Amino acid sequence: MTTTATTALTHIANLVTNDPSLGDGTPLGLIRDAAVVIDGDRVVWTGESSKAPATDNAVDAGGRAVVPGFVDSHSHLVFAGDRTAEFNARMSGRPYSAGGIRTTVAATRAASDDELSANVARYLDEALRQGTTTFETKSGYGLTVEDEARALRIAARHTDEVTFLGAHIVSPDYTDDPAGYVDLVTGPMLDACAPHARWIDVFCERGAFDEDQARTILTAGLAKGLHPRVHANQLGHGPGVRLAVELDAASADHCTHLDDADLDALGQGSTVATLLPGAEFSTRAAWPDARRLLGAGATVALSTDCNPGSSFTSSMPFCVALAVRDMGMTPDEAVWSATAGGAAALRRTDIGRITPGGRADLVLLDAPSHVHLAYRPGVPLIRAVWRAGERVV
Ligand code: NIG
Ligand code: FE
Repeated sequence: MTTTATTALTHIANLVTNDPSLGDGTPLGLIRDAAVVIDGDRVVWTGESSKAPATDNAVDAGGRAVVPGFVDSHSHLVFAGDRTAEFNARMSGRPYSAGGIRTTVAATRAASDDELSANVARYLDEALRQGTTTFETKSGYGLTVEDEARALRIAARHTDEVTFLGAHIVSPDYTDDPAGYVDLVTGPMLDACAPHARWIDVFCERGAFDEDQARTILTAGLAKGLHPRVHANQLGHGPGVRLAVELDAASADHCTHLDDADLDALGQGSTVATLLPGAEFSTRAAWPDARRLLGAGATVALSTDCNPGSSFTSSMPFCVALAVRDMGMTPDEAVWSATAGGAAALRRTDIGRITPGGRADLVLLDAPSHVHLAYRPGVPLIRAVWRAGERVV
């Protein structure tokens, strides 16, 4: 029998557990002057610091706050190159369009496996230093059978939350034959990619894939055991959100342009609305209204959408600050959405909360409260990170 050492993190001024049965009874389940006990990779106890059980080791949080590790449920990290020139042009007034994706497709196809893997590792390291302990990432910059499959193989070395996005745009090789590309995506590409992925995604948008194409692709993915998530209603109003709910997708991502029927669908279904404030920030687009979504009863997640075109940030704290300042969320709501919300968008119950039995993913802030994540934007507040019980920052 193996025994692991127990560690107590004590004197936490504010502990966000995301268990409403704990602490102040809000969705954050906030416990003041708290402690957390970790055994191996799991949390085994939370409560008031004065009542913490004896442990092998102790770490004094010194009156700082602890939040669950951030769950970034939407990123595009398998790529090469960057799009500085496009960003510059946009900041001089040019609008964002999905066409820029082709630039990254060319650079990604030309890169070696080692370069792509090193890029993923580099952005992950950035994210970890900003408190992200779980992340999802996608293919979508290969758009050939071989390049999509290799993107997923590389992604799978770094995370279990891997998404096949062969339907990011119609491949430049099929500009005159979009139906042929849909056949490729739902046929040989899906066959090659399904073994390496958990999810399937489609960019359902004018200029990318329409409702029928998206339904065909997502349904084919479902038949191969991949569960849907959808890039929906980003650049304009469209059918993506309703399709996502119809197919019980785990999440509809972006949700920038919504009508009342979309809000009703998201409020009633179990599809999470994932907001990506880095994209509106970096494309100078209108902000989605998180208040409308929350008012409709939707579950809202926050993610970075980290990619070289529309949102080149790996920082969940930055997204929390934007969601509070510009999308109408309260700091409590934004922190919940960046942790428990992300877990819901990945249909996971072992992460995004600090409760006994859950994975010991913890972030110690250099601040007395989680509210400082929005109150002190741009400040490096991440003092320490534990992932699966191991101190990694
Ligand atoms: O989520 N919307 C589609 N895909 C990305 C953008 C990709 C790119 O511009 O390279 C997004 O914003
Ligand atoms: Fe995206």
